[in-house]
Amino acid sequence: MLVLNDSSLLRPGSYIDGQWQTNNQHLAVRNPANGELLHTIANSNGIETEQAVVAARKAFTSWKKTTANERASIMRRWFNLIMEHQQDLAKILTAEQGKPLAEASGEIGYGAAFIEWFAEEAKRVYGDTIPAPSGDKRIVVIKQPVGVVAAITPWNFPNAMIARKAAAALAAGCTFIVRPATQTPLSALALAELAQRAGVPAGVFNVVVGDNARAMGQILTSHPDVDKFTFTGSTGVGKSLIAQCATTVKKVSMELGGNAPFIVFDDADVDAAVAGAIASKYRNAGQTCVCTNRIFVQQDIKDEFTEKFVSAVKQLQVGDGFDENVVIGPMISTQAVRDVQNLVQESISQGAVVALGGDSHSAGDCFYQPTIMTNVSNDMAIAANEIFGPVSPIIAFDNEDEVIGLANDTEYGLAAYFYARDIGRIWRVAEGLEYGMVGINEGIISNAAAPFGGMKQSGNGREGSKYGLDDYLEIKYLCMGGLDK
Ligand code: SIN
Repeated sequence: MLVLNDSSLLRPGSYIDGQWQTNNQHLAVRNPANGELLHTIANSNGIETEQAVVAARKAFTSWKKTTANERASIMRRWFNLIMEHQQDLAKILTAEQGKPLAEASGEIGYGAAFIEWFAEEAKRVYGDTIPAPSGDKRIVVIKQPVGVVAAITPWNFPNAMIARKAAAALAAGCTFIVRPATQTPLSALALAELAQRAGVPAGVFNVVVGDNARAMGQILTSHPDVDKFTFTGSTGVGKSLIAQCATTVKKVSMELGGNAPFIVFDDADVDAAVAGAIASKYRNAGQTCVCTNRIFVQQDIKDEFTEKFVSAVKQLQVGDGFDENVVIGPMISTQAVRDVQNLVQESISQGAVVALGGDSHSAGDCFYQPTIMTNVSNDMAIAANEIFGPVSPIIAFDNEDEVIGLANDTEYGLAAYFYARDIGRIWRVAEGLEYGMVGINEGIISNAAAPFGGMKQSGNGREGSKYGLDDYLEIKYLCMGGLDK
């Protein structure tokens, strides 16, 4: 049973126009670690989604007129409340998503940091003046909120992926509707509860929870009163959603899949590379878009790296996220375990060798063993696909040009990592990698101050940082003429 200091953080259903929705259609939320029923909430559908759009449109007329300072102080209160309730929010997150409690607490801080960051950035939405081509004219550029923003967010970061989008939207003066993943609605509703307590006006932040993803997604991507759509999730689903947005030519920003290379050159600090690979690969049981997907190691240090990596990964404790020493929790579902197992099996049949793990874990139906595979090549299933699980394929390489080519040989371009010391090599490789984010001698790169986003089929737009507001703002050009006497 989920015991919280503040039990009113567990809400009954969707939050629309400042009201909590209840109905007789129930949605059960379960703990992936043990299948335990955590909470039952009202199951919303298309009708509630439409209501949320109407509420957000109505609220936009007044929210867009608030000053940046007014929005910033409400958002600051929201940030403070989240941090005051960090432990309860982390417990909710671990219970519905599975990640270890310390990692869940980290996610709450990570999500809150976006709200704090954008509360400050709201005050720096500057315009421009541009020298005009003729003397009787002046050119002025102003920035205005895009309007109503709809978001669909994933189960792997039930708090931070909402906070990262909503914070930028609200700071810019937009209103916001989110449909969180069906598996993890409780964290989203707790965020709404704290938004209400912070004084976010009715209709400005709305959460619609329901299991009819298709119908709800259709409304959020095609409703004429939604001005912008943003999604974090797989590239396949992202492509369909972009197509749906085309009918009303919505602005879109997409954080999609990844196939992150992690390259270890022969001048690297191997111990640091091992630590970085573990942090990047096994975070959230390997279920993040920026998780290392392929580890490339230069031939002459391959044995040393593999030996050290296997011995360090063996120490990682797997189990229920509420157990103190656990660092790898369950995967989100038994289907997710099967998907990973299929990739591992297919790669074994293609010639890969299991150096560690390689099967489901005895901790329960949703657990998979931390796994390392050697003798892998870039075209095997385990390297060509986004794994989204705790499996590390190791691929040997000979030289810089070869590994840059291999690393870029994918439709994805989200995150990449490499370990090296030679400064010339660092610049060459950093510039050669076709990825939106590159960790250099660093396995964890996400933070509110940095622009998160991808190239190629990993999406478009950036979240966080000084660039993160741009996706929620329209640039308007004012041409003032007739200024001659
Ligand atoms: C993601 O997996 O989509 C987000 C990961 C992060 O923000 O670090």
